[in-house]
Amino acid sequence: METVKFTQMKDGDHEDYAFLTAHEIEYAAGTADRLLAAMVELDKSLSGYKVTRLGHSLQAATRAWNAGADIDWVVSALLHDIGDIYAPYNHDEYAAAIIRPFVREQCAWVVEKHGDFQLVYYGEHVGANPHKRDAFRDNAYFDDCVEFCERWDQASFDPEYATRPLEFFAPMVREVFARRTYDPAIIRTAQREPLSSVALQASRAEFSHPS
Ligand SMILES: [Fe+2]
Ligand SMILES: [Fe+2]
Repeated sequence: METVKFTQMKDGDHEDYAFLTAHEIEYAAGTADRLLAAMVELDKSLSGYKVTRLGHSLQAATRAWNAGADIDWVVSALLHDIGDIYAPYNHDEYAAAIIRPFVREQCAWVVEKHGDFQLVYYGEHVGANPHKRDAFRDNAYFDDCVEFCERWDQASFDPEYATRPLEFFAPMVREVFARRTYDPAIIRTAQREPLSSVALQASRAEFSHPS
């Protein structure tokens, strides 16, 4: 069997759908590598900054890594702007949709809202509401998104920063996207992890200043 027998989904039988499910599983296993390839595409988007979009993403992830953030945070920082490629007007929601089945709820929420939270830094210059974040004041992850933007997003446009290459983060991306989707032990609804961990930071200290 090389293709299904049907031309309309409603005519498919058990054999057809078992065949398709096997294909889907095989294709889904390549998600991490497709995302890593897409990150390279980010290099071409949004010129005008002192760093490319890929450079910005790598810098955000490097800052997260150096702060002792856990793998969910690091991968979320790396991918937070991946939506720029196909969804320039809701890039935050697009990125969140990609990571949501694989990371803590906290991280997916922060990535989804980071666009609104970032406005506090430049909204007044572009005729947008700098205080759009205020609508989320009551959310349990409000402070996490404030911190994410302040420390890793708005700060990561510095061409002098010792940013790590994509290859450094690739194993982390592969690990996260190899997880069982929507695993409650991963999603950990309503649980917060700090953006920094002194213990993790110390264990990474020897790697934090690449030459
Ligand atoms: Fe963004
Ligand atoms: Fe960003």
